[in-house]
Amino acid sequence: MKKRVLNGMRATGKLHLGNYLGSAKGMTALQETSDHECLYCVVDLHAMTTPYDKVLLQHTTRSVIIDYLACGIDPDKSALFVQSHVTQHAEFAFFCAMMSTVARCSHLPTYKEKVKQYPQHVTMAMLNYPMLMTSDILLYKATDVPVGLDQEPHMEIAREVARRFNADYGMDFPEPQRFITKGQYIPSLTGEGKMSKSVEGSYIALTDDLDTIRKKIRSVPTATVAGGEMSPSVKTLFVLLELLAQNECAQFKKAYDDQTLKFVELKDALSDAIYKELKPIQTKRHEIESNIPYVDKVIKEGAEKARDIASKTVREVKEKMGLLLLR
Ligand code: TRP
Repeated sequence: MKKRVLNGMRATGKLHLGNYLGSAKGMTALQETSDHECLYCVVDLHAMTTPYDKVLLQHTTRSVIIDYLACGIDPDKSALFVQSHVTQHAEFAFFCAMMSTVARCSHLPTYKEKVKQYPQHVTMAMLNYPMLMTSDILLYKATDVPVGLDQEPHMEIAREVARRFNADYGMDFPEPQRFITKGQYIPSLTGEGKMSKSVEGSYIALTDDLDTIRKKIRSVPTATVAGGEMSPSVKTLFVLLELLAQNECAQFKKAYDDQTLKFVELKDALSDAIYKELKPIQTKRHEIESNIPYVDKVIKEGAEKARDIASKTVREVKEKMGLLLLR
């Protein structure tokens, strides 16, 4: 049976190399396989569960779509759409919310972090975030969700809700699994934590030119640590090298082990490899950006494909849950 892949991308401005290697690249690879049907949505409703800028939201939503198109998501192969355009996401989230408890959702680490971060905005929507995500996934009876390890608590909830629906209402939701991609954890250039847009100096933007990339990579600290172990930031360089310049990686690793490595050489080789990967994406982004009618057509058609599936699931759920449905 064909597997169904669903991913939800948050609308948080421009992508960086970590997003690209960790999600976009894997998503484009999945759409090329014949046994996966892929649905990818920008989760604009999720963006509204914490304070957001209402002027920026529509801009970032479209911008994320453009980024993913530039990275190689092919609208002929994958449905690329905006969550709020398929009204079933919000509708079905209501039914999902019946299948979990306040206690379960309020104990999630992600929820607790947000409460700390926005103590003035602890809304019902914030608490319901995992139910909206569960809705995104189950609406399409998705089997695979290509998200990072940090999303595992949400995935567990989604599986619990699926089991509940199946046991109590005779639905046939598969238990969705996290689909693990090769670059799922891209460490920060600082060596601390993961590459993140909110940490200056930690990331390469997809829009960086060769000069900027060189500067950023050259400033990655390479001082040795006590005991001769690889320092975390040196490890970052090797992780990136392994993903982007695999054939050069072994040679640099050997030089490192022999203590003959010139870090400048490794860094410039890595910078070139990063730029080589990003250049075609940047060119494509420019092209797409200048054709907004095309982008909007993609978004509309994506929503239609998604709606076909989502509306069937919602009808089935309503029927099984005992609501009065008219033909
Ligand atoms: N919670 C996810 C994140 O923070 C975003 C998300 C929302 C998502 N709905 C989803 C991811 C559905 C995968 C599937 O990145």
